[in-house]
Amino acid sequence: MIKTIEELQLTGKRVFLRLDFNVPLKEVDGVATVADDTRIRESLPTIQYALSKGAKIIIGSHLGRPNGVDPKFSLEPIATHLSSLLNMDVLLTDDCVGDGVEMIVSHLKVSQVILLENLRFHPEEEKNDSTFAHQLAKHADVYVTDAFGTAHRKHASTYALPQLISNRGCGFLIQKELKFLGALINNPASPYIAILGGSKVADKIKTIESLFLQVDSVLIGGAMAHSFNLAASSDYELPKQAKRPKPEEIEHAKHIIEKAAKHEVKLFLPIDTIDGFDIGPKTIELFKTQIAKAKTIFWNGPLGMFEKPEYSKGTFEIASAMAETSALKVVGGGDSVSAVVQAGVADKMDHLSTGGGASLEFLEGNGLPGIEVLEVFNKATSKEL
Ligand code: 3PG
Repeated sequence: MIKTIEELQLTGKRVFLRLDFNVPLKEVDGVATVADDTRIRESLPTIQYALSKGAKIIIGSHLGRPNGVDPKFSLEPIATHLSSLLNMDVLLTDDCVGDGVEMIVSHLKVSQVILLENLRFHPEEEKNDSTFAHQLAKHADVYVTDAFGTAHRKHASTYALPQLISNRGCGFLIQKELKFLGALINNPASPYIAILGGSKVADKIKTIESLFLQVDSVLIGGAMAHSFNLAASSDYELPKQAKRPKPEEIEHAKHIIEKAAKHEVKLFLPIDTIDGFDIGPKTIELFKTQIAKAKTIFWNGPLGMFEKPEYSKGTFEIASAMAETSALKVVGGGDSVSAVVQAGVADKMDHLSTGGGASLEFLEGNGLPGIEVLEVFNKATSKEL
């Protein structure tokens, strides 16, 4: 059993909260600010619960993939943003381990929050280094993870650290993610449709093949749809502006088309396009008809270059069509989530997953080490006792 935060004793304790604050940033008047705060907002119920219990909160997160210490990847904009969302001070430490941080943690009062500087400023984080995990463990009596987006990584703060703290569990976001993504693999209501977009077939092969075990149909859009159309018909004319897919991409698509036939899964490919960068009006209608029949829908990957207004119609119309159905609707992946937000239908979806890679790993049936570690080692610990 994995404990939830509600089953842990938090009052007066130093609680290490591993969150995924790896969010997009943008510059406003030369200052880095948070461009999309979905992951931060989704972490608030857990932070607020810990605050209400009188915990001393030490938040750890990574941001980007820095090579050592790099101010571009500082969590400063996130500390500022979190402070305004919580309406309280959030102190950002200048490092995540070491004497200075230990001193600050030792003076922390109940219901105060500190945010540790980027965990990945130490290469030991991604190496799941035990010494580094022991240094982090000095900050905490209790370990709570709500970093669903990072749960597929075996890193020091997500994997080695929880093994050092016997009082550990997960927060509300992970519980929500597991509930909705779990519903997609445990007898999802049929017809179950997956809508997949994005640029490369290679990135999606494993996901598509695992989805074949559950879904009735797959609707394909985005640049990767060209590979599928080229694989499906020698008559397909690649739109002039579109980039020709590499031969191996077309081979991957062929392989998937064959697998779909074996599993009796219907593949729907675009039948028209806008310059090769968006699905055309006939495809929108075709996809809408399928969506209207669905009882379960999973969407990952935009259907066109929606960041350009002239190529956003397909993605936005599909988002709206999905919003209108009474199906169970789950959207996974940063780009698809931001498309749904921009289409103004985010509140009509049952769940917007905060995990891109993590949600796909989960649907592929691969375990998530950052969550499993809470369970496996709980058992080991109780045996030792
Ligand atoms: C993500 O955004 O997918 C997570 O924060 C993990 O980041 P990573 O892919 O750099 O490990």
